[in-house]
Amino acid sequence: TRMGPLTGRKVLISAGGTREPLDPVRFLGNSSSGKQGVALAAAARRAGAEVTLLAAHMDVAPPAGVKVIPTPTAADLQAAVTKQAPSHDVLIMAAAVADYRPESVAEAKMKKGPGENSLTLTLVENPDILAEAVAKRNAKRRPSQRKKPRPRLIAGFAAETGDKEHSVLEYGQAKLEKKQCDLLFVNDVSGGAGFGRDDNAVTILALDQDTPVAEVAGSKDDVAETMIRTIADRL
Ligand code: C5P
Repeated sequence: TRMGPLTGRKVLISAGGTREPLDPVRFLGNSSSGKQGVALAAAARRAGAEVTLLAAHMDVAPPAGVKVIPTPTAADLQAAVTKQAPSHDVLIMAAAVADYRPESVAEAKMKKGPGENSLTLTLVENPDILAEAVAKRNAKRRPSQRKKPRPRLIAGFAAETGDKEHSVLEYGQAKLEKKQCDLLFVNDVSGGAGFGRDDNAVTILALDQDTPVAEVAGSKDDVAETMIRTIADRL
């Protein structure tokens, strides 16, 4: 095993976009490529960590030397995070999780009836996996113990667009307060940056800090490197 800032640490990373099935051959999905999550997995591996990748749909292959658990739907991802998180030091939720899923999944392929020129789908809310993982971890905290229970560090992503009232960072701060994760990687997506591309621009916010920890722009590999360094520094 390689020696690095994360040697001996176990890191759990979700990546890609979930696909919520409608029937055996159809789904509701999103255009997450999985590139940033895969870059994070590779950077964590280079830093010496033992890495588990929870892979939703990805356009890219997982890096070598990483354990991969396929998690196509939000429900699969929730089950895997619940099972895996307590045995990992770090959880990074880089996956684009569908906020809603079809209420029911047809057992057979849905057929188009004669004259049916519209279709109404009922969607139900998916659980917030990140917020749930934080709540579970925090519930295990004991004031007598200085060390946090595992995962000791939980990080999330926020893809935000600013508007007249609030900046991207203000929305990021609000999301951090809401989700209570230790670190939040905030993406300004107003210019179409992020999704599917090879570069990214991210501001790193921390729950225990009023001002941003770092700002980083560059290739998704460069950005991942800084994210992993920030995480290692705070463990
Ligand atoms: O609320 P929003 O979707 O912007 O939050 C993004 C963050 O929350 C990401 O880290 C994403 O992986 C996570 N998330 C989640 N479960 C959901 C929706 C988002 O864990 N249902």
